[in-house]
Amino acid sequence: MTNIRVIRHPREMMDFSDAARARGERIGFVPTMGYLHEGHLSLMREARRRASVVVASIFVNPTQFGPNEDLSRYPRDFAGDCAMMESVPVDVVLAPEAQDMYPARAQTWVEVTELTRGLCGKGRPGHFRGVTTVVAKLFNIVKPHLAFFGEKDFQQLRAIQQMVADLNFDIEIVPMPIVREPDHLAMSSRNAYLTAAQRRDALALSRAIATVRENFAGAQAPADIVKLATKVLSRPGIAIEYVEVVDAETLAPATSLQAPVLMAIAARVGATRLIDNVVLRQESSPTSR
Ligand code: PAJ
Repeated sequence: MTNIRVIRHPREMMDFSDAARARGERIGFVPTMGYLHEGHLSLMREARRRASVVVASIFVNPTQFGPNEDLSRYPRDFAGDCAMMESVPVDVVLAPEAQDMYPARAQTWVEVTELTRGLCGKGRPGHFRGVTTVVAKLFNIVKPHLAFFGEKDFQQLRAIQQMVADLNFDIEIVPMPIVREPDHLAMSSRNAYLTAAQRRDALALSRAIATVRENFAGAQAPADIVKLATKVLSRPGIAIEYVEVVDAETLAPATSLQAPVLMAIAARVGATRLIDNVVLRQESSPTSR
């Protein structure tokens, strides 16, 4: 059993948040799909520092999975997740049922256009539309002042920042750095799918990131970076989906290295699709976007 208040129904969550706001509380929100790890917890701890009420959601959102993706086998451990959230501590976990989030009559989508066309948008049609739709719904249900998102899913973070600006959500989006395992593999709930051998192969992603970071000063053009990363990733056990260098703001293909760029990688290790990325800025370029 857990001390965290578990709320299952959107209406109950809205009433809770209305009451908290009426008391003058600041609500910090961390949306997740559960099977929590230190990456998720880092977001929750920051929410704990910056807000007086911390709400996390656990919802494996069906609309962001493609027909051949891993919705049915996505890892779940609600009891374990609650134990981890207690260590933060999180005040409320919203864990709704799919039928309460998506009544059969729903016909409305939230779609961010340009930002979601490239990178993961290419190989996962409909994915970001599912993400922005569920996050918009969760924002309306939880009514947070602040919401925390990891740079691990950089394109998702940019899409949500764009949605919040375009649709006038009165919510501060707080980006958080990628949390890695001691051997530098980016933490992900999907790492649970990897066999021991695949887990070793997967280190090529973070090695590619590290190599590019170390050699960025000597790079002349985006293509130099792609070449470096591709070389590290080209090995048995890894199927590259993309290695791209894009403008860190617009996510359009980078034409130079003057402005901050994002190098993003997606690759399959066995059947498991993994992503990783790094933002690179030249010494002389601005340090923040
Ligand atoms: P999920 O993959 O569970 O991730 C929830 C949040 O944790 C996201 O903001 C993600 O970027 C962040 N996160 C995951 N791994 C991280 C890591 N290694 N370091 C730092 N942050 C990390 O992203 C989703 O769920 C869903 O798309 C969601 C936004 C909940 C909508 O369904």
